[in-house]
Amino acid sequence: MKGITKIARQDILRISPYIPGEYEKGFIRLNANESPWKAPGDKTENGLNRYPPPRPTAINNLLSVEYQIKNEQIMITRGASEAIDILIRAFCEPKRDKILICPPTFDMYRLYAEIQGAYITKVPLLRNKDLSRDFSLDVENILKGCDKFTKIIFICTPNNPTGNSPNAKDIELIAEQQMNKSIIVIDEAYQEFSDSRSFIKLQKKFNNIVVLRTLSKFVSLAGVRCGSVIADNELIELLNKVLPPYTFPTPCIEEVKKALTKKSISSSRKKVEITRKEKKRFTDKLLKLPEIQNIWPSDANFFMAEVKNLEKIVTSARSQRILVRAFPNEPLLKNCLRITVGKKEENDALVQSIIDGG
Ligand SMILES: Cc1ncc(COP(=O)(O)O)c(C=O)c1O
Repeated sequence: MKGITKIARQDILRISPYIPGEYEKGFIRLNANESPWKAPGDKTENGLNRYPPPRPTAINNLLSVEYQIKNEQIMITRGASEAIDILIRAFCEPKRDKILICPPTFDMYRLYAEIQGAYITKVPLLRNKDLSRDFSLDVENILKGCDKFTKIIFICTPNNPTGNSPNAKDIELIAEQQMNKSIIVIDEAYQEFSDSRSFIKLQKKFNNIVVLRTLSKFVSLAGVRCGSVIADNELIELLNKVLPPYTFPTPCIEEVKKALTKKSISSSRKKVEITRKEKKRFTDKLLKLPEIQNIWPSDANFFMAEVKNLEKIVTSARSQRILVRAFPNEPLLKNCLRITVGKKEENDALVQSIIDGG
């Protein structure tokens, strides 16, 4: 232990990793108490009667190529959500350590911190009348808000639910100032929809930067639950002690392999382009309606709109069997809706429901 893992929970640092049973292709397996028969209807190559590998190394290999990193720098999790949980458990001692978040942001940081018994420092995003500069990071108060117990700072870029990407220089400054003190978890769940650069490359400069990615949005696999943590290899080694073995199911491994072929990735990239164009068409149409007051620029596959009568819009959308997301517990987003960019006909149905309800 020499680098950033120094600040992790001391008891976790001392845990010895679980040693899984041997797995050798072509060997008779009498070492894992599995059933020797495939279940009826099991068409999988490896058989669902067999445990998956302790870690889905085939996916590690594919994603390390996609993200241009070394194999030892990535850990696969069940969605980026699980990565958030594992990071908080590895770094935050209950009733002592803290995370810092910048609301309005993704609510799972709060949830997992509360489950772990970690404290939460909140430094709200800064407001600005100019929508393109609204919801920026309050760097000064983020740095002032950190003490020796602040182990993780979560920054979401593009941010859910506001859709903007915080200034990259602000994030770098925070990483630099918190070197050897906190890890900066940069949640890039929507990165592929944005023009800004990923923070993966900045890990060479700042070993306290941890990047989260997911296949839920870009490659359309939310149902498969595949996310990843990309970090310094020493940190990945530590996280591997906390993530239980055999968590990634065999059918999910097979689905991810299909989604990461060159052809599938290129089809996913085309869908990103379609989504970006559709976002422009959809928001232009919405902005013509008197019920819509503002739409913030968005780098993601969703956007946030400020509306005149939130209840009325939600109700008329619901009556047309359309769901949009409101944030009743978020003071900064009182009259705001987060709207995902769907297919053209789905988006038009929402526009029509607002017109009909008006
Ligand atoms: C910002 C952000 N991070 C992480 C996640 C979780 O993604 P996953 O589906 O990989 O768990 C989401 C899901 O919506 C998200 O919006």
